[in-house]
Amino acid sequence: ARLLVLNGPNLNLLGTREPSVYGTTTLEDIRVRLTERALSAGHQLEWLQSNAEHELVERVHRARQENIDFILLNPAAFTHTSVALRDALTGVDIPFIELHLSNVHAREPFRAHSYFTDVARGVIAGFGAESYTLALEAALSQLGRN
Ligand code: DQA
Repeated sequence: ARLLVLNGPNLNLLGTREPSVYGTTTLEDIRVRLTERALSAGHQLEWLQSNAEHELVERVHRARQENIDFILLNPAAFTHTSVALRDALTGVDIPFIELHLSNVHAREPFRAHSYFTDVARGVIAGFGAESYTLALEAALSQLGRN
């Protein structure tokens, strides 16, 4: 199957960005780890990090043309703001898992609301870089059930 991992704004700073909240693993470390795991399970993994909402929206649109089967999404700050990205995901009707490094429910109140949770297959939050590997495992087990 073909999986797409989408990462929102400021996640390019992982490793040095608020390490007490987000850890010291870089996004590149996570990308390499996930790509290897997907390949060893016989799947293909596409990857994008963008600080621009329209780039994420357009990547979701292309995902439909490319027959992407499943999306892993860390919308970052767009979690709490982006109707546009939500509408893109419901528009292409590709199943997705919402994921966060931090436990968004244990932080500032504005992080508790997500524009994605009610349309996601499920949500994983609070396990640092491991949230990505847990989300991938969940996606692989979901793939058979589309
Ligand atoms: C985040 C949580 C968001 O609230 C925040 O804006 C981020 C990262 C996380 O992975 O914990 O940028 O999505």
